[in-house]
Amino acid sequence: MAKPLLLAALLLTYAVCTLSLPPCPPCGSTAVPYPLSTAPNCGDPSYKIRCATGTLLFDSVNNTYPITSISPSIQRLTVAPSSFIPNTCIAADLPSNGLQLNASAPFNITSSNTIFYLNCSDSILNSPLNCTSNSLCHVYANATSSASDCVNTACCAFRAGGSTTSYRIRVRESGCRAYRSFVNLDQGLPVNRWPQPGVELQWILPPEPTCGSQRDCGSGSTCGPDRSSNSGVNTCFCNSGLQWDPVTGVCAEECKDPDSCGKDRTALIAGLTVGLGVALIALLIGFLFYKRRLRIKEEQERLTREREEILNAGGGKSAKVFTGKEIKKATNNFAKDSLLGVGGYGEVYKGVLEDGTMVAVKCAKLGNTKGTDQVLNEVRILCQVNHKNLVRLLGCCVELEQPLLVYEFVPNGTLLDHLQGGNRGLLSWKHRLNIAHATAEGLAYLHFSAVPPIYHRDVKSSNILLEEKLNGKVSDFGLSRLAHTDLSHISTCAQGTLGYLDPEYYRNYQLTDKSDV
Ligand SMILES: *[C@@H]1O[C@H](CO)[C@@H](O)[C@H](O)[C@H]1NC(C)=O
Ligand SMILES: *[C@@H]1O[C@H](CO)[C@@H](O)[C@H](O)[C@H]1NC(C)=O
Ligand SMILES: *[C@@H]1O[C@H](CO)[C@@H](O)[C@H](O)[C@H]1NC(C)=O
Ligand SMILES: *[C@@H]1O[C@H](CO)[C@@H](O)[C@H](O)[C@H]1NC(C)=O
Ligand SMILES: *[C@@H]1O[C@H](CO)[C@@H](O)[C@H](O)[C@H]1NC(C)=O
Ligand SMILES: *[C@@H]1O[C@H](CO)[C@@H](O)[C@H](O)[C@H]1NC(C)=O
Repeated sequence: MAKPLLLAALLLTYAVCTLSLPPCPPCGSTAVPYPLSTAPNCGDPSYKIRCATGTLLFDSVNNTYPITSISPSIQRLTVAPSSFIPNTCIAADLPSNGLQLNASAPFNITSSNTIFYLNCSDSILNSPLNCTSNSLCHVYANATSSASDCVNTACCAFRAGGSTTSYRIRVRESGCRAYRSFVNLDQGLPVNRWPQPGVELQWILPPEPTCGSQRDCGSGSTCGPDRSSNSGVNTCFCNSGLQWDPVTGVCAEECKDPDSCGKDRTALIAGLTVGLGVALIALLIGFLFYKRRLRIKEEQERLTREREEILNAGGGKSAKVFTGKEIKKATNNFAKDSLLGVGGYGEVYKGVLEDGTMVAVKCAKLGNTKGTDQVLNEVRILCQVNHKNLVRLLGCCVELEQPLLVYEFVPNGTLLDHLQGGNRGLLSWKHRLNIAHATAEGLAYLHFSAVPPIYHRDVKSSNILLEEKLNGKVSDFGLSRLAHTDLSHISTCAQGTLGYLDPEYYRNYQLTDKSDV
């Protein structure tokens, strides 16, 4: 069944060169959008949240609240507020004085929250809050069984977001002892149609990430001093032609062509509306869309042609061009349970082709718009090699939003999996020797049989796959380089995985076959 093999590239290279830190992997089934960070090595660590047993948690200064929803496009998330202590009108977080955010952290409480203070002492009645008997909090307590203990307590309602309420909803023994908050409350609705209680927080758009040295930045950005703050901290500034996109956390291309830029096109259309009749506009929009569709189609055809030429010319025997439909079908539309792994480069899914062939499908990260050309370049490299100890590329697909590479499926996971965790006992020393031998053979083939020679540059146990008889196959050519090209690129940017990188290459940027150790 040993199906072919190669591995993948561009995806890794591209991600390494664009993102300083990748977005965090999902927490259970919940996506964790940039800049939110569940670990020090993903997202922007100053936007720290936590992931515990599949639930996202938000830590306030003295407490923890579950996150119930996230809207990355408007930088907002909602947390579930503290409940009442059973059979009382006292908030469970009263001992820590309610919800208090760290004012030095980039989160605040939005003005979309309508907040009720309940069980208040009489002194509150002098406050500027609405504590009248027809205040909405009475209506709420009257109509809500979980708040039934709060009926007949003094209570007040207000809209959050003033300077005193940006970072806290304060309850205390000498004031109000419980609270409830509702996001975007429509006061006209009856209480039984209100949303679940929640407190909406907003985060500040993240600045470019900080860096200790150029190594911390992707190739799309340059590590330099932050002139505006004079703090002595260095920042990854996007290179010219690229622009920091705080929503996705990448240096993206600036939009120069109004036709292909959502915002500018809207503005253009809006301008025209004034001058021209509605009919004319409809016509124009139709025409623009038609032109755009045509251009996209031409571009796709060009890419398909180019890739086909490469695949056919390269000797990549059975390498083929897959359609988006085939890939979606094979991976069950990228179903969660077919996810094999996630890395800086993107995601790898397990799939089964129509003819029963098991495959591994690697997708670039969304937002890597320059990815396609690099995929082609990598495919070019990979199609020149064919060896039993190298994972084999079956083909690729550029029809979907992200370029995809399709590899032979290697059933036994990575060497790293087997050296760690529950599988530890399975690999005898004889197996290990065989794996080392197979890996060396694969690398020797790349160095001495491929013309020109190819340097892998990222040899590590998580890149050695094991087939059913536990023989090793070298995978992940994302950082590979043809020996005689790209020298300038190599000398500006020593890439690989820290901890596995050849120290001489790391120091001197001199890449040789000896760097693959
Ligand atoms: C209101 O708060 C006071 C002071 O903490 C407490 O003694 C009382 O039981 C609370 N009222 C209700 C209905 O829980
Ligand atoms: C909240 O936490 C801070 C810092 O950890 C601590 O100084 C303070 O006493 C705590 N406040 C309450 C009410 O627990
Ligand atoms: C508040 O945030 C700042 C900066 O992130 C941090 O240094 C500090 O320890 C935090 N304080 C508390 C009480 O969590
Ligand atoms: C208090 O809220 C109620 C209900 O929303 C409203 O009718 C009333 O005018 C408010 N009173 C003050 C003083 O704002
Ligand atoms: C709450 O219910 C009580 C008794 O059913 C009623 O007297 C009171 O007016 C109600 N208050 C509001 C604000 O609806
Ligand atoms: C919260 O932060 C956002 C983003 O910086 C800002 O626009 C907003 O005014 C802040 N809101 C409050 C109530 O401070």
